Amino acid sequence: MTLTIALSKGRLLAGAEALFKKAGLPFPPQDTRRLIVEAGGLRFLFVKDMDVPVYVEYGVADAGICGSDVLLETGSDVLVPLDLGFGRCRMVLAAPPSSGFAQAWPMTLRVATKYANVASTFLEARGLAAEIVKLQGSVEIAPGLGLADCIVDMVETGRTLRENGLETVEEIASTSARLVVNRASDHVKRAEVAALLASLKPSL
Ligand code: PRP
Repeated sequence: MTLTIALSKGRLLAGAEALFKKAGLPFPPQDTRRLIVEAGGLRFLFVKDMDVPVYVEYGVADAGICGSDVLLETGSDVLVPLDLGFGRCRMVLAAPPSSGFAQAWPMTLRVATKYANVASTFLEARGLAAEIVKLQGSVEIAPGLGLADCIVDMVETGRTLRENGLETVEEIASTSARLVVNRASDHVKRAEVAALLASLKPSL
């Protein structure tokens, strides 16, 4: 049986391609706008990063590659058998240096983020009242423009934070790329899923 694998065209794509090639697995060419591509007996779906575990949870894809930040946000019911080791980032709460949040939290704060669930869970755990402003990206400009007091977002090199006048107040999680597998596929396509894992593991 053919495995269907969900990938995102975002920043994890190069790492996924390098890993699959090192493992001797087929990988789809990217010189096409088709979003469903067959390659070497595997079927690949190209979807938005937040949607990878959704396709896998619903069984449309048997497996997928996404960041653990996405899994924290979606809370998808999928198996996560492998930390793939690449795409390492930090999820942080960041604010302008003048905010004083590192010394004391304000009574209420407004947070701009793509990660609404992660942000509200984090702030609730600290007993803080927060209003979440959900954005799809470029959240680093929100505090300077008065849209929010702070952000919850991913940091890789720290350059985007620095160049937009923000600093990390607290680290929420360390993240990396994960292989996710549909629970039913793990039974119904046991041999194919096991072969995929066996190919990937020595290359990690
Ligand atoms: C991510 C993240 C930060 C940036 C961090 O954005 O949301 O904006 O990368 O990288 P750095 O620490 O190396 O500067 P991405 O490019 O994925 O786009 P987005 O704005 O759509 O989230």
